[in-house]
Amino acid sequence: MTSASTASPRPFHIPQPGSGLYCGAVSLGKLARQFGTPLYVYSADQILERLRLFQQAFAGHDTLVCYAVKANSALAILALLAQHGAGFDIVSGGELERVLAAAPDSAGRVVFSGVGKTPAEMDFALESGILEFNVESEAELELLADRARRLKRKARFALRVNPDVFAETHPYISTGLREHKFGIDIRRGLALYKSVAGNRWLEAHGISVHIGSQIRSADPFGAALERVHRLVRQLDRAGIPLCSIDAGGGLGIDYHGGSFDAAAKVREYAQALENALDGYTGRLLLEPGRFLVAQAGALLARVLHVKRNGSKTFVITDAAMNDLIRPALYQAHHEIVPVRPRAGKPRVVDVVGPVCESGDFFARDRSLAPLAPGDLIALLDAGAYGMAQSSNYNTRPRPAEVLVEGRKARLIRRRETIADLLAPEIHVIED
Ligand code: LLP
Repeated sequence: MTSASTASPRPFHIPQPGSGLYCGAVSLGKLARQFGTPLYVYSADQILERLRLFQQAFAGHDTLVCYAVKANSALAILALLAQHGAGFDIVSGGELERVLAAAPDSAGRVVFSGVGKTPAEMDFALESGILEFNVESEAELELLADRARRLKRKARFALRVNPDVFAETHPYISTGLREHKFGIDIRRGLALYKSVAGNRWLEAHGISVHIGSQIRSADPFGAALERVHRLVRQLDRAGIPLCSIDAGGGLGIDYHGGSFDAAAKVREYAQALENALDGYTGRLLLEPGRFLVAQAGALLARVLHVKRNGSKTFVITDAAMNDLIRPALYQAHHEIVPVRPRAGKPRVVDVVGPVCESGDFFARDRSLAPLAPGDLIALLDAGAYGMAQSSNYNTRPRPAEVLVEGRKARLIRRRETIADLLAPEIHVIED
């Protein structure tokens, strides 16, 4: 648990004994009463603080932080980040719609990544005038040239190269090895840029790399960027100067404990990139997602029952794997904190949801302060890939979302209703 000071990794804290848990200056107990549970709560101050850490660490360079929208695509959060100078990394036409809805003037600050862009998505992005397409295959480059020609709009592209760098992280979110589906083998880069140099519908604007997510060490980023920089110099010599290097996202946080020094982490990351890019004077694009929003958010849930089965104790909450799937999908750890801790000996429990799957758990064999039905708990570090990966499995309406800004809490997404869930369905059979 941490204090609310700017150096702390999380905005969730107990301001005084007996007060219960707060997000910044706002009581979580109060938010639960006002908006119900499960409820996602985010701190705008913390998100902006993280954005600033990136902006400051790279201040010596012409840098644009393109927030990875997939981490948390709430319109209010996109608008907040845009107001403070962020651009965006998107991976679908839907995400572009979101960005334009939240920040209509920001198309020129958008990079479009992803291995499977459709012609319709390319057209939409071309017409919107995005900054660059991060192209992940030769076939995609051909398709992009074709769409650009049809629309008579030149496409700025970057090849997303695969540097064949190993990043220590969960296998599902590692992307920088040749065996992964992502990017173009960096050894093919030079030839590919050369092969389209004369194409009047394509502009070689940059180069990009993204080696994975939740990467704790700065070393793999440095190794990847060194390889990219080498290729940029070769391209320069070949008469193909690029405007920008996009270093991707992936910087990890500490899901355990409370002594994580985010500022030091960003500085270490910036240093690794600076070393690798020594002498590079072009623009640097960054695509952080998790680092900006994960620790700013918590999922607030209420305990429904406490149940014993044999030797196990299960704390059953009103939140479930459909609301936050990271533990089930990646065996991810999320700290769990009672909003009003009870006195008494900690107990070893499983914290689970009501969904009909044994994979529906938030924690297994976790030692927690005693919990009773009606208690509130906060699942920490849930601001990234929480709501964004939620579903309606078991016909469960998704949670509401609240953004805390200073002393104010604002509902930024209402709770879904069952009517919302049924609306797209057609069930009347006509004969
Ligand atoms: N850029 C690209 C091209 C990406 O594919 C990603 C994430 C990012 C940037 C942002 O990475 P970040 O800074 O957030 O690590 N659902 C998983 C994480 C999947 C990451 C996918 N790509 C999780 O909950 O851990």
